[in-house]
Amino acid sequence: MRLIDRNSSAADQTLRIQAAHVSTGEASGAYPEVRAPGRDAGVHYNTGMQGKVCVITGANNGFGFVSAQRLAALGATVVMVCRSRERGEAARQKIAAATGQRPELYVGDFLLQADVRRVAAEIGAAHDKVDVLVNNAGYAFSERVVTAEGFERTFALNYLAYFTFTRDLLPQLRRSGAGRIINVASSSHRWRDIRLDNLQGEKEFPIRRFPPLSGMYGWSNVCRIMLTYEQAERYRADGLTANCLCPGFVPVVRAGATAFQNLMIRVVPLFMKNVRTPEQAAETVVYLASSPEAASLNGVYFQSGVRMRSSDQTYDAALRRQLWAVTEELIAKAEANASIAQPQPIA
Ligand SMILES: NC(=O)c1ccc[n+]([C@@H]2O[C@H](COP(=O)([O-])OP(=O)(O)OC[C@H]3O[C@@H](n4cnc5c(N)ncnc54)[C@H](OP(=O)(O)O)[C@@H]3O)[C@@H](O)[C@H]2O)c1
Repeated sequence: MRLIDRNSSAADQTLRIQAAHVSTGEASGAYPEVRAPGRDAGVHYNTGMQGKVCVITGANNGFGFVSAQRLAALGATVVMVCRSRERGEAARQKIAAATGQRPELYVGDFLLQADVRRVAAEIGAAHDKVDVLVNNAGYAFSERVVTAEGFERTFALNYLAYFTFTRDLLPQLRRSGAGRIINVASSSHRWRDIRLDNLQGEKEFPIRRFPPLSGMYGWSNVCRIMLTYEQAERYRADGLTANCLCPGFVPVVRAGATAFQNLMIRVVPLFMKNVRTPEQAAETVVYLASSPEAASLNGVYFQSGVRMRSSDQTYDAALRRQLWAVTEELIAKAEANASIAQPQPIA
């Protein structure tokens, strides 16, 4: 997508950009078809984001960081959620210096439901409303490890954290009047379908040396997309929207990655077409978060900036509802066993 002109004098204060390519759209399961803007129609970013509170997880690195910076530049109050105070603070300062804004920083390990809930409670106490929630923090792990709360960690970070963080911020999203939920997912959801009896890789856990190719990562992304479509349906009456995206293949050096993973992330792109930069990947996030056109999108999946249909399984409404119910049960069971600590009262 390329910026073509700034229409700052217009009443709606929008930036007009040309969409490099936008699909004609495919049927989105049970949802009414809403066409993404065509190539010549242009896309509008709302430059009047002042007063809008945008929460983004995993905001210190990669396209999460770029998205946070772009939203701050559009005037939004950006609430960054990071797992490391040091990395989060460094990113916060970079955004402040680049935009003149004062992003906020909250710290939590989203592998743990207790931290997810504590951070949601802290943000909820500080903000009466949240206009945009971008669930982005995620990782592709190579081995099956269970967290202290008893959840397989890919499932816990990539999916359960999205579920609970959104659930706990629902009052604030509702108060926005038109809250937008944006869930980052991955095209790896296409590789295999989920099974409810193997949601956490209990029976089968295919491992690859390059973790993004591992089955568990793909399955967690099926869950993320199904969650989005279910949120779209359940929260529609509250005036909320929920959409999801795969950023495309965006090579990023990650904190804690092994030397082999970092080597792969540098070498693999040399042999690939369609490698995307964090700036390109952030376009869809910023579009969904700010564009007036995107306000009408609900239950939609974008891949590499193009609206398209996700895998057939993700449109199975009965399975989606079962997944939701199973998720609620899992969380309730862990809470009852006190393996998830209750959030501490805010001092
Ligand atoms: N890059 C791609 O090609 C690609 C493709 C498809 C989907 N995705 C999805 O895009 C999202 C962003 O990933 P990325 O590729 O941009 O990687 P990234 O730059 O490493 O971003 C991931 C972010 O999540 C944070 N995070 C990781 N573990 C966390 C935890 N336990 N608690 C809280 N935050 C945590 C990271 O913090 P630290 O910096 O402290 O680790 C980082 O800020 C992920 O959900 C991923 O599944 C990426």
